[in-house]
Formats: sequence, structure tokens, C-alpha cells
Amino acid sequence: MSKRILVTGASGQIGSALTPALRARYGADMVVATDIVEPPEELRNAGPFEFLDVTQRGAIAAVIDRYNVGTIYHLAAILSAVGETKPQLAWTVNLNGVYKVLEIARERRVERVFYPSSIAVFGPETPRDNTPQDTVLRPTTMYGVTKVAGELLGNYYFRRFGLDVRGVRYPGIISSETLPGGGTTDYAVEIFYEAIKHHHYTCFLREDTVLPMMYMPDCIKATMDLMEADLARLKHHTDYNLAAMSFSPADLVAEIQKHIPDFVCEYRPDYRQEIADSWPRTIDDRAAREEWGWEPQYDLAAMVEDMLDKLGRRYEAGLL
Ligand SMILES: NC(=O)c1ccc[n+]([C@@H]2O[C@H](COP(=O)([O-])OP(=O)(O)OC[C@H]3O[C@@H](n4cnc5c(N)ncnc54)[C@H](O)[C@@H]3O)[C@@H](O)[C@H]2O)c1
Repeated sequence: MSKRILVTGASGQIGSALTPALRARYGADMVVATDIVEPPEELRNAGPFEFLDVTQRGAIAAVIDRYNVGTIYHLAAILSAVGETKPQLAWTVNLNGVYKVLEIARERRVERVFYPSSIAVFGPETPRDNTPQDTVLRPTTMYGVTKVAGELLGNYYFRRFGLDVRGVRYPGIISSETLPGGGTTDYAVEIFYEAIKHHHYTCFLREDTVLPMMYMPDCIKATMDLMEADLARLKHHTDYNLAAMSFSPADLVAEIQKHIPDFVCEYRPDYRQEIADSWPRTIDDRAAREEWGWEPQYDLAAMVEDMLDKLGRRYEAGLL
């Protein structure tokens, strides 16, 4: 019998979109969704789901054995903004989590592991425009510290033990289905709900804060394309820069106003501004393009149109 796919953190923003996509491609029963919180109902009903805490080594091993797991998408993590309010928790979940997952993957001879990194690996000393693939990694957030360590650990397991660990540095991810889980780019999702419901939003970042972003369909495509890429072509493993679009809150507001002309945005920057100011504005992702053919499908205009269309329909149906 062929081996199953395990997704950790499957109830989160990316997991709740990636899990159905994996089930559509590899078969519903082949993808085991896990998290410490309930997943959306469709996800729970469409295939296997288990409660799994990634800091519990025995529990991870038991799920891997029970389901004969051959591939892991390790998404469970504490994100940047929550990580700054609870740095000890971010360390425990992010670093203990990835270490335990990699160790058990090594022991059980799992074939491939996906480990998402982030633009949070960069810091104030990193060049902020067209940030190179190989550059200074001195983040000033606990989240960034854990992501740099996770990238390095994944590369170590590849070189030392031959475990095929792959990962990308996701930019801020925007999705129409699930609200984000406490990151610094969350405004770029919340703004759509408020624009549709109240025609007004108060943004926690300054209007000129340009950050790299990506629409969820591109995030899923990048993840699956990298995991299916020919290993022989990959010169990097856990740390691919990835870009789709970069914009500021003001750019996003102007694009939304093309559809909702009376939409108004106010700006009240909070502690998240400092995190955003330490991150790149634009990313050089040539390595991903050259080594596994990465190419995004959505720019700012296409993303805004699709978000407003999808959320607008839910609003009209009384579901928002
Ligand atoms: N969303 C983004 O913009 C973004 C950007 C860069 C990187 N990433 C990375 O992608 C991955 C997924 O992010 P997301 O946006 O879906 O995050 P999210 O916060 O929406 O989801 C994370 C999930 O992990 C779960 N979790 C927390 N602690 C856990 C534990 N101890 N055991 C098991 N599960 C636990 C949470 O319940 C949650 O459902 C993370 O590794 C994150 O660092 C996300």
C-alpha cells in the first residue's frame, strides 16, 4: 500500500487550503490532517483527522506509524505577531516541533518533509529591495530566529542523514477562506472583510509599508510544485526565496477603491510596525524560478478582484 501524507497545523490558514488540494491530487484517504484545534468542518469530514501536538514526540511517532506516513507537510507554528507576545511559546512550538518532526522522520525513514520558512528570516541588516537568495539572516523577532534555525536544521538533516527536506520562505499569505493566525501581514486579509462589511478599516501598519505578499492559490501551487520537483535539480533545499507581488497598505486600499469607491482606511500603527520595518520590500526569487520552474499567477489587481468576488458572494449569502 502506498504511503500517506501527514499535514501538521492543518486547521490553520495555509493548512486548511493545502489539505484539500493535496486530497484532490493524491486521494482523500491518503492525506491525514492534524492539529491541536478543530479544523473547518469540510476538512474534518473529507478525510482522516487526528488531534496532534507537535511538541509531543510520542504522539507524532504514533500517527506516523498508524497511518504509514511517507511525506510530511509540517505547517504547525506560532506566527510572527503572536510570537512577539509569547516568545517562549514560539520557541517551544516552532523549534521543538521541527526538531521532533525531523528526528522521527529520520528514524521512520519518511521520504520527504516540507518545512515552510518565511520572509521573517531576514532582519534590519538584510538588503530590503530585491533581497538576494543568499544574504544576511539576522532576524530581530523570536519567530524569525526559529525560522532561521528550522531552515538550517532541515539543510543539516538533508546533508547529514539524506532526509529530503524542502521549504520556501513564504511572503505574507492572503486567502479568501480562512482568517490568518497572528502574523504581521494579517491586515491584507482583514481589510477585505471590513471593506465589504463596513466600508471602513483601521490598519495596524503605516500606509507606505511595502511588504512581499502572495495569494493563496499561488502559495499552494508553489508548495506542491516544489514537493514534486526533481531532487537532482535542487541546489537549495529549505530556504527558497519566493515572490509574487509587493505592495503597501495604500496600494491595496487604492486597488480596493476601484471596486468599492467609498471605502475608507485609517492608519494606527502598533507594535507590528517594527516587525514589518525589519522585513524586505521585494524579493529576488530567481533560484526558485530556475531550479523548479516557479511562476506566480496572481498580481495585486487579479488578487483583489478574486478576493472581493469570493467574499462578496459570501456576504450576500449572509455567510460573512
Ligand atoms: N500565513 C503566512 O502569511 C505565512 C507566511 C510565512 C510563513 N508561514 C508559515 O506557514 C506555516 C503555516 O502558517 P499558517 O498561516 O497556516 O499559520 P496559522 O497560525 O493559521 O496555523 C498554524 C496552525 O498550527 C497549529 N498549532 C499551533 N501550535 C501547535 C502545536 N503545538 N501542535 C500542533 N499544531 C499547532 C494552530 O492551531 C494552527 O491551526 C507556519 O509554519 C508559518 O510559519 C505562514
